[in-house]
Amino acid sequence: MGRFCSPVPFDPLCSDQGIHLRMQQQQQQQTSQPLRVLITGASSGIGRGLAQWYAHRGHTVGALARRQDLLEELAAAHSNVVPLIADVCDAEQTEQAVSRFALEAGGLDVAYANAGVGQRTREEGWDADRAELIAQVNVVGATNTICAATSIMLEQGRGHLVGISSLAGHCPLPDAAAYGASKAWLVFYLRSLAMDLGPCGIRCTVVMPGYVSTQMVDGTGVELLTPQARRAADRIAQGVARGQETIRFPRRVSLLTRLAGLTPASLRASMQRRRLHKRATSRSQGR
Ligand SMILES: NC(=O)c1ccc[n+]([C@@H]2O[C@H](COP(=O)([O-])OP(=O)(O)OC[C@H]3O[C@@H](n4cnc5c(N)ncnc54)[C@H](OP(=O)(O)O)[C@@H]3O)[C@@H](O)[C@H]2O)c1
Repeated sequence: MGRFCSPVPFDPLCSDQGIHLRMQQQQQQQTSQPLRVLITGASSGIGRGLAQWYAHRGHTVGALARRQDLLEELAAAHSNVVPLIADVCDAEQTEQAVSRFALEAGGLDVAYANAGVGQRTREEGWDADRAELIAQVNVVGATNTICAATSIMLEQGRGHLVGISSLAGHCPLPDAAAYGASKAWLVFYLRSLAMDLGPCGIRCTVVMPGYVSTQMVDGTGVELLTPQARRAADRIAQGVARGQETIRFPRRVSLLTRLAGLTPASLRASMQRRRLHKRATSRSQGR
């Protein structure tokens, strides 16, 4: 299979009614039949929560990540979890892992591009390597996953792509330039793909969580106030089963970030200046 997705076939018989019916059938299938679900970044956090959610309900799960020990632990607890050791930044490894899973499981119904890294780009220096790593995993890695899954789904004539973006993709946030940009990219990519792939029976969902208590936010102080990975996974998987195009949570944080996205850049800059001033003052006072 090639590195790139096959071109979307033009089918004049794909009427709006036909597409709607196919999508409805797919949704019914998602709630009643055992599914073949691929999840990247399944060794920890939200991805692991999702793998457990599907495995508990009898679905076959392809759990992809780099940490073999954690994936094997997951597979030992659930006989319907297939560990797939791969680095999503490597297109060939990702494609091979996704194809192997689809072959072994007999198809691919849902694919989650979840693997991601989230480091602050400001506090720890203006490090180009850091920004590049974020772009590699969150942008290139997600593309590799989505392209590998799309090739299989196009052959099947159905499937569901899910991208785990973030509420940080809604509006520019301080200290998160590369992360926010990488997540905004995923939103745009999947929403555009939805137009190209919808007529071929492939559905796309964008997930935009606020903070979730995982390794990604460990030590930031927000982990105590945020939902656990399992709760987040439950919210995501239920929304995906309902066929939601966008899943945002928690509701209040989602509303706030959307409002923040509408505020003028000058106001955001002045709020940030005040924040930095406050931080510098408390540092100089030793607090
Ligand atoms: N936690 C939050 O507050 C939050 C909020 C919004 C969105 N998100 C998004 O949710 C997703 C999951 O994050 P999380 O919070 O669950 O963090 P996490 O616990 O750190 O999990 C990240 C996962 O990504 C995998 N991963 C990282 N680089 C990889 C690579 N090159 N190849 C394959 N797998 C790789 C890791 O597995 P290995 O290290 O084993 O490879 C791990 O399983 C991310 O896309 C993140 O941006 C998180």
